[in-house]
Order: sequence, then structure tokens, then C-alpha cells
Amino acid sequence: MKVDTAIIGAGAAGMMCAAHASGRVLIVDHARAPGEKIRISGGGRCNFTNLHTDAHAFLSANPHFAKSALARYTQWDFIDLVDRHGIAWHEKTLGQLFCDTSAKKIIAMLRGLMQANNVDLHLQTTARDFAKAPDGFTFTLAGDGADTRVTARNLVVATGGKSIPKMGASGLAYDLAAQFRVPVTATRPALVPFTFDKERFAGLAGVATDARITAGQTSFDEALLFTHRGLSGPAVLQASSYWREGEAISVNLAPHQNLYDALRSQRATSGRRNLTTELSHHLPGRLVDFLATQTDLKGNLADQSDTRLAEICKSLSAWSLTPTGTEGYRTAEVTLGGIDTNALSAKTMQVTAVPGLYFIGEAVDVTGWLGGYNFQWAWSSAMAAAAAL
Ligand code: FDA
Repeated sequence: MKVDTAIIGAGAAGMMCAAHASGRVLIVDHARAPGEKIRISGGGRCNFTNLHTDAHAFLSANPHFAKSALARYTQWDFIDLVDRHGIAWHEKTLGQLFCDTSAKKIIAMLRGLMQANNVDLHLQTTARDFAKAPDGFTFTLAGDGADTRVTARNLVVATGGKSIPKMGASGLAYDLAAQFRVPVTATRPALVPFTFDKERFAGLAGVATDARITAGQTSFDEALLFTHRGLSGPAVLQASSYWREGEAISVNLAPHQNLYDALRSQRATSGRRNLTTELSHHLPGRLVDFLATQTDLKGNLADQSDTRLAEICKSLSAWSLTPTGTEGYRTAEVTLGGIDTNALSAKTMQVTAVPGLYFIGEAVDVTGWLGGYNFQWAWSSAMAAAAAL
């Protein structure tokens, strides 16, 4: 079989690229259905982009790399596409756009676009034995029937990262990179919950509160959720992308309130009340009870001097915690690191040293914050490649 472009991986990036590439296009996925991560994303409603998308929300060894693709196919372009397909959406918070009804609408839109572009979709099919040929690349397709040898002028690798192996993640992008001598930056799980020794927060499982979490030099103000294994919630997932083993994170449990002033005025009016009871006006009661067992939170409010109140507020605004690790690729939403952007054209995603070979989407060392940024990178990098094919 001879095609102009073969795309490996029918996820967000692969489908978007297939739908817009010219010539005869083949797309292959070993999963039973395309876009499985789209289907489960955003609690089944797919947070498909973010109104505030620009390079500030992405991590990469080269923070400038994503700019070109993000500028040439923007969040507004994708919103326009979604609108043209009559998919209703809403902004949830912080610029995050979700489908009103189901993520399946995004998959159906992409499948429809691929069909309109006469894309040849092969599911439950593996691709192996990749080789360079004089006029492009060859590989073997192995599905239900007999193996087929394919020749493709362009090979686009869109197999994503290592996150959630149960959903079809594989290391194919990194294996192909090694085969074609394309450098790869170190990979690690990101947007992932933290774990702690001895189920330290098990008694708090299910408690959520607003917090500012700082890892390294970067802080996020969002919800914090205590779990049986440790800490989760958007603020924690965001911080995990900036955390390194052995480091402490800082948790500010009162990021939006002047707790010191509030407690002083409560002391003036309700000095006989218990300190922990009064703190429960500002923080979840179970969390206050837990903190009271860890620190010296006792007595009535009237017993607390200004200095003591200031100390208490300081400890609640800079709670230092050292995770033992993360839940790893089993639950990580994305993979940090990947195909070294130094090897790619920022305009086309083509490997500069291997004409015809492209890497797009999560496989590349460009990782977004939580909130629709990763799908926008999938759409933008896919369109950058599609325009060049
Ligand atoms: P993606 O992983 O989507 O697709 C890769 C495809 O390649 C898959 O279909 C896979 O089966 C296939 N494949 C892999 N290896 C193969 C092989 N060897 N042979 C053949 N096929 C192979 N992002 C966001 O912006 N908003 C959100 O709401 C969410 N929510 C979310 C929830 C959960 C639970 C997860 C795990 C992740 C998210 N994300 C997200 C992240 C987002 O899903 C992710 O960044 C994109 O799906 C990446 O798109 P890609 O197309 O690069 O990879």
C-alpha cells in the first residue's frame, strides 16, 4: 500500500492532523476506538481548549518552541471549528471551555472531518518494522487480516506520552525517536497526585479546600483535595509539573483571606470561643481538627496573643510538606518531556535531520497546564504539521 502520509496514533493530535492533511492519508491506532482520552477527558465533557492559551502555560526545555504553532492555530480557531459543528460549550472557570453535553461530540466531529478528507482509518492495528525508504518510510501494518507493507512519503508520529498505559499509551514515539536518532528529553509523570508516607492524610480523604500550592518558583491557586494516598485536586496536579523528588511544596490554606485580621476581630467579639471552632469558619472543620493534632492549636481565642495569632496564620499560609512521590503514569494526565524540540521545526513539527518524519501532540516536549491547554497543543501542533504535508 502506498500513501502520501501515514499517521500513527488516532488520538487528539493524530485525528486533527489526518482531517486536515492533503493527499492520501492513512491513520493507524492499536486501540478499539479513536480518541479514547478525549472521551474520558474533563469528566466526560472534554475541556477542549482554554481562552487564555499562550506559551506561558506550557513547560518545555525550550519555552519559545510552542509559540509559532499556538499562534498559527489558536484557541479561537478551534472554538470556531466547534461552533461550525454546532457543539455547545461553556466556560467553567479560569478560561476552561467544556462541551455542554459530551466529549463524544468532539470525537464525532474529528471522525466526520477525517471521513470528509477520505482518511483511511485502521483501528486495532499495530504498526511495526519501520524503516527509511528512498521515497519516505516503510512499515508493516498488522491487524485482523494479513500483514500489509506500507510505503509513506511522510510519517507522522502522534502516539502521545506514557500516561495511563491502560488506555493504550505506549513508548512507540520514543522508540521511533531512538531508531531515527532524534533526541528525547527526560520524561516524567505530570498533572499527577502526590503521595505521602503512611497514608498521612487518610483521615482527611474527601476534604477539599481552596489553596495556593507552590512547587519550585511556581504557585497555583485552585482547589486542594485530600485523598487516602495523599494530595490531589487542580492546585496539586498543576504543582506536580514543577515538583522534583525530595523537594517540599508549600501549601497556603488561606490564599484569599486575611486570616490574621479576621481572627483578631473574632477575638474581639467571641473571645470565649474555642480557637479551632473559630478557625472552622475559614477552613473545613475536619482539616482544622487534623491540624490541631499536628500543631499547638488549643485554648480560646481570647488566650491567643497577637504574636500567637500571627504565628498560627503563618503556619497555615506556609505549610511545608514533602511528598514521597506521585501516583505515576497510572493516573498522570500527561507526560512531561519527550521529543526534544531542538530536533524539530517549530513551524512544521518536522524532524530537521529526517525529512518527512514528524512528531506532534503530547509525544513532543511541550506540556500544558491543567485546563484545556494540552488539547490546544494537540490541535495546534497537528495543524502545523498538516499544513506542511
Ligand atoms: P493521545 O494519547 O490522545 O493519543 C495517542 C493515540 O495513539 C492513542 O489513541 C493511542 O491508542 C495511540 N497509540 C499509542 N501507542 C500506539 C502504538 N504503539 N500503535 C498504535 N497506536 C498507538 N487535556 C486537556 O487539554 N483537557 C482535558 O480535559 C484533559 N483531560 C484529561 C483527562 C485524563 C484522564 C487524561 C489521562 C488526560 C487528559 N488531558 C486533558 C490530556 C490530553 O488527553 C492529552 O494531552 C492529549 O490526549 C494528547 O493528545 P495526543 O493525540 O498527543 O495523544
